[in-house]
Order: sequence, then structure tokens, then C-alpha cells
Amino acid sequence: MVNIDGKICWGEEGRISVLDHGFLFGDSVYEVVRTRGGRLFCFPEHLERLRYSAEKIGLRLPLEGEGWRREIRAMLEWSGLEVDVYIRLIATRGVGELSLNPFSCVRPSYILIVAPLPVYPRRYYTEGCRVELTGVVQPFYGGGGSNIKSGNYLHHVLALREAKRVGAVEGIMRNVEGYITEGSTSNIFFVRGGILRTPALRCGILAGITRGLVLELAEGLGIATEEVEVGVEDLFAAEEVFITSTTKDIMPVGRIGERRWGVGPLTRRLMEAFEAGVERHLMEI
Ligand code: PDD
Repeated sequence: MVNIDGKICWGEEGRISVLDHGFLFGDSVYEVVRTRGGRLFCFPEHLERLRYSAEKIGLRLPLEGEGWRREIRAMLEWSGLEVDVYIRLIATRGVGELSLNPFSCVRPSYILIVAPLPVYPRRYYTEGCRVELTGVVQPFYGGGGSNIKSGNYLHHVLALREAKRVGAVEGIMRNVEGYITEGSTSNIFFVRGGILRTPALRCGILAGITRGLVLELAEGLGIATEEVEVGVEDLFAAEEVFITSTTKDIMPVGRIGERRWGVGPLTRRLMEAFEAGVERHLMEI
């Protein structure tokens, strides 16, 4: 189901102008939020990141926090959907000249997309999923701009394309220095010598909300964590690997290339702690 500037309709019927710079240039920002048991998960954190992304690209958000929530409520009432949902919040630069010039766009547009949450096979969580290390070099915008969740996802699309071609669920990218960054829509963690490591923000990754939760949980469990530069050899030498995202939660990695892992003890502990801690981050719609 789609909501374009307040007009709700079924997905296929949702139309935006081809002159919207979001469509033409990926000049837009977005968030993916999910519900759990009908309540919003980590909503303030997602709104905060959306505000940050918009500010970084000089885009005035057409809705405030309460406004986004009101639109979500309206959509769920309209649809009568009672399953847990994936909610995509998008703000685009809007319609402008047929040039990159963002100042030619008079009014930003908002779009919400609500759909049933994707369901991954259970074995991904009990045995681990397959991930591919791709050849995609992720651009780095610098100046703290790595945290912008923009609609410009071509590199991510190409990473996922490489992954899908070999039957993997996620494709990992690297930065220009050759260090591991993240997956097309997830962050990556690994355990080595009992220490939980993940690429540092300075490597040019998105500061995932789930990533943040995992780091917090690890601290609470007394697990040492490090945000560092991660080389390919570090990843392959790991004892445990997992990826995180809003739609995947903590998903153990069972295979990268020919290297295989089971679901390790630390990953298991974090998965349990994650489940147990969910309640604290829920909010009525
Ligand atoms: N993606 N890295 C990238 C590039 C992402 O697009 C995402 C999220 C993440 C994980 O962030 P979080 O834990 O806040 O979901 C990391 C969403 C789920 C998506 O675009 O579908």
C-alpha cells in the first residue's frame, strides 16, 4: 500500500512524476521501519536518522515526526492489515527542472510504502545464511556523510545482484581502501578471540539502528566490542559472523565463498538478548 503526499492507494496504482528528482537522480532520503506485534520498533531512532539524512542533503522534510506516525496509522486503518509490516518512509526532492539542480525543485514530496514484512527461511537463523563478498567498492561521501540513508542505492543494488547470482542473501561491499564496509541493506559483525568486531563508522558505513542495539547489548552482557577497520583476511579468520538489519534482526552467516561457519555461542547469546530486549523499543502506532 502506498501513500503519496497524503493520498493512499494500493501499490500498483501509486504514481510519482518522472520529473521528481528522487526518481531521476536518487535525490531522496528514506528509512525502513518495522512493527512487532502491531507496535513500531525503534521509531524515534529511525526518525532521528531520517532528519539527519535530510539535513545533510539540505532537504526540508515535508512531515514532522507525529505527521509520519499519523500517516502510518491512516494507512493501516485503510488496509485493515493485521500482520506485522515493513514501512518505508521516503522524502524526495520533488519535481524540478530536467537538470540536477536541486534548487529547481519547489516542493519535497513524501511517500510511505507499507507491506507485509519479508519472512526469511528459519534455517537462516538456525544454520546461518549465505553471504557473498562482492567486488563492489562503496563510494564514501566523507565529512560524516556516510550515515546518509539516501535513495541512491546503485552500488548496493550491484552488490545484491552479485550475491543473488550465486544464491547468497546478502552481498558485502568494501571501501576504496579495501576494508569491509557493509551489506547492501545490512551491517556486518564478526567474533575473533571472543571479541565482537564490526567496521567503524569512519569506514563509510550506515550507522544501522540494529547495529547500535547489538553494540549496546554486547556491552550489557560484558562482551568486549571493537569498531575497527576490517580486512578481508580478518573476516575469513573469524570464529563467528552475523549480519544485522531492521528486517533481518541478527542473522547468523553460515557461508562466505567456500568458508563455512555454524551459529556460534556469542551470536546465540546476542540473538537471545535481542529478543528479550525488544519490548523496551516498542511504541504504539
Ligand atoms: N536497510 N546498511 C545499509 C546500507 C542499509 O540500507 C541498512 C538498512 C543497514 C541496517 O540498518 P538498520 O539496522 O537501521 O536497518 C545497514 C534497510 C533495512 C533497507 O533499506 O531495507
